[in-house]
Amino acid sequence: MNKYRKDFPLFKAIDEHNSAENNGLVYLDTAATAQRPYIVLNAMDHFYATQNANPLRGIYSLSERATKAYEDARETVAKFLNAASPKEIIFTRNTSEGLNLIANTYGMANVNAGDEVVVSIMEHHSNILPWQYVCEVKGATLKYLYVDKETGEIPESEYSKITPKTKIVSVTHVSNVLGTTNPIRKIADLAHKNGAVMVVDGAQSTPHVKVDVQALGADFLAMSGHKLCGPMGIGAVYGKLELLEAMPPFLRGGEMIEYVTETGATWAEVPHKFEAGTVSAGDAVGMAAAIRYIQSVGLENIVQHDNELAVRLVEGMKKIPHVNIIGNKDGTKRCGIVTFTVDGVHPHDIATLLSDENIAIRAGHHCAQPLGAYLGVPATARASLYFYNTEEEVDLLLEKVSMLRKWSGYKD
Ligand code: ALA
Repeated sequence: MNKYRKDFPLFKAIDEHNSAENNGLVYLDTAATAQRPYIVLNAMDHFYATQNANPLRGIYSLSERATKAYEDARETVAKFLNAASPKEIIFTRNTSEGLNLIANTYGMANVNAGDEVVVSIMEHHSNILPWQYVCEVKGATLKYLYVDKETGEIPESEYSKITPKTKIVSVTHVSNVLGTTNPIRKIADLAHKNGAVMVVDGAQSTPHVKVDVQALGADFLAMSGHKLCGPMGIGAVYGKLELLEAMPPFLRGGEMIEYVTETGATWAEVPHKFEAGTVSAGDAVGMAAAIRYIQSVGLENIVQHDNELAVRLVEGMKKIPHVNIIGNKDGTKRCGIVTFTVDGVHPHDIATLLSDENIAIRAGHHCAQPLGAYLGVPATARASLYFYNTEEEVDLLLEKVSMLRKWSGYKD
């Protein structure tokens, strides 16, 4: 049995007691949200039990300890992403809020009529809707980089859409549907050559691979805590300091100001300019604990394990008649995300039938409807793997997937 599972209350209960509540659950939906280890829950508990006061406000020692815990968490995120300074890290609620922050501040201030914003067709809605809004308000055009339907990769010819008219290129590092890892450094170089900034959606990459914002050439990156074993409701934006300093604020209110008069205000320094209201310090502490935890597992070990399981799953699925893998058929290119359909069985039925067998996968459009429409598969089933999953779980999924058509009344 995988040695990390005992670190997680949910898996410990399943493995030791086949807990009635979870009934031996096989959890294969980490791309939607990861499970939390004790170490994260304990870090949050410790914060609220011993350091809880409103951070950044009180000048008494308890509040100063809360501030320190919060700013230490920022430093952990900065080091994790190899940002040049903790000032380049803004805490948000999640990736969606982070991308909205970038679009509503940098985007609104820098995109004008006639300009272009470039995204890829494999974006989830959080990296499409904010840019649709900016383009609509500013009279700009949103362009899509399309993917090769077989490989799930963006062909070379698509990159000619990045031109001097482009002001922003915003592309996911890893697709939540296809599992494709995009060549961000190459795209960023093209964006920069054309005078645009590079925004990276790091929601699916940060839990699985080493992300170095400087090596990637990212000007901005958005990520979530809950996908890397941290709490829900906390995420972060990385932004280059000179860009953040020139940007207007996102939300207005307490703590993000320097001075307020009856008629106006000046702003606090970066990053606090972007963090209005009481901050989620307990969640930031939990996210930092999660980062330290996955670093202790080792991102190189995580990627290796995810790839091994994905290869096992993809190769197994290839042998099952009527199962279609969406995107690349090489499991090492899927970042632990395997999306599939079964002829004649609706993906919602796949998920329901598997749920009856205590296997949790996601089904539907995965918040990426334009991709589904482009691929001609509006709904799919998705199993997503992480370092706490096992070969036995993959084999069980394969066994049950091979039964889906029979359970649905087909003879073969
Ligand atoms: N974007 C998340 C997913 O892919 C919610 O499931």
